Amino acid sequence: MERFQVNGQQGLSSIHVGESLSNIGSYLPRGVTPIIITDENIKNLYGNKFPQGPVLTIGTGEKIKTLATVENLLRELIRLSCDRSSFILGIGGGIVTDIVGFVASIFLRGVRFGFVSTSLLSQVDASVGGKNGVNLDSFKNMVGVFNQPEFVICDIDLLTTLPKAEISNGLAEIVKHGLICDTDMLDFIEKNRQKALDLDHDTIFRLVADSVAIKSRVVQQDEKESGERRKLNFGHTIGHAVEKLNQVKLNQVKLNQEKSNQGKPVLTGHGRAVSLGMVAAAMFSQKKGMISQEDVTRITTLLKGLNLPVELDYKADQIIEAASRDKKKQGSSLYYVFLEAVGKARVEKIGFDEMNDFIRSVFE
Ligand SMILES: NC(=O)c1ccc[n+]([C@@H]2O[C@H](COP(=O)([O-])OP(=O)(O)OC[C@H]3O[C@@H](n4cnc5c(N)ncnc54)[C@H](O)[C@@H]3O)[C@@H](O)[C@H]2O)c1
Ligand SMILES: [Zn+2]
Repeated sequence: MERFQVNGQQGLSSIHVGESLSNIGSYLPRGVTPIIITDENIKNLYGNKFPQGPVLTIGTGEKIKTLATVENLLRELIRLSCDRSSFILGIGGGIVTDIVGFVASIFLRGVRFGFVSTSLLSQVDASVGGKNGVNLDSFKNMVGVFNQPEFVICDIDLLTTLPKAEISNGLAEIVKHGLICDTDMLDFIEKNRQKALDLDHDTIFRLVADSVAIKSRVVQQDEKESGERRKLNFGHTIGHAVEKLNQVKLNQVKLNQEKSNQGKPVLTGHGRAVSLGMVAAAMFSQKKGMISQEDVTRITTLLKGLNLPVELDYKADQIIEAASRDKKKQGSSLYYVFLEAVGKARVEKIGFDEMNDFIRSVFE
């Protein structure tokens, strides 16, 4: 097991990589029965391993990351007569941890909380760092708080039940960490690609621990994202636009009861969208003269090898429209994360016009 810490403004958070859900009792406050919040999938798979306590479930998918879900949970907490001494335990992927962190932070102006992180994406990224919140209309993560969980348990063994697509989603954020600041990690993933996809225990342990090390270090330096932490948004400007477009497409497909407009399944997931965003950001960096065409090819080859998409199937105008509705927009400009080298991110404030011209030049 490896332990990491983030000493946040509102308290200390410890992250335990390789710890087991079965040891959760030693992390919970003594004499307090936790309120457990999870999703249906996790409850079905691991409910029998949960500690004693009432279990509240939410649905699954980005579509339920809403204020309505938050409201329902708050009402449930009132129904359970929770008070300031209550402890909330979120067990799940990034959707659960983003929502639970927010609910725990606003219920009675804040109660204690911790996470058991169950998806690869949440272990390497979402559950670490204290960003909690939900979407509002088409604005992703528009409402939320910075507040660190008391602990995060990253139980590697839970990942064995993850659908294959979710392993790739998590690997996207791992590649992101390598691209922005760790070439050794990139070399390691390139060499151990298949082992990572097959969830080889030691390989995944290494990748999760290295990712948590990077994320906790960056968050420690800049918890509220006024500088260094922006680098973690690499691939996310266009990534979030793609994620929104995927969501719209998925809803249409459901409405039409078809597989998709072209008969292709709509592959959703945060990591997949970020994969496309990273390809775009790499191409943009190359266009600005920072990295070479070979570097871009290296990045796309790696992502493809991890079963992640590298070709956008949206039109430039759709991406531009969706990207302009991002909360990171500040007036007519935004902070965009480039790669000045593979393994080194650089944040620059650019005009929306510049980004839109770039999108038109490559995706029309
Ligand atoms: N707060 C942050 O800093 C941060 C960072 C990155 C991503 N995020 C957010 O995280 C969310 C995505 O998280 P995610 O990819 O974990 O999605 P998720 O929580 O929807 O999990 C993906 C799917 O896997 C299932 N699942 C989870 N663990 C499982 C397991 N052990 N076995 C079987 N199935 C399992 C879930 O039920 C779900 O169907 C997005 O909303 C994204 O914006 C937040
Ligand atoms: Zn992300």
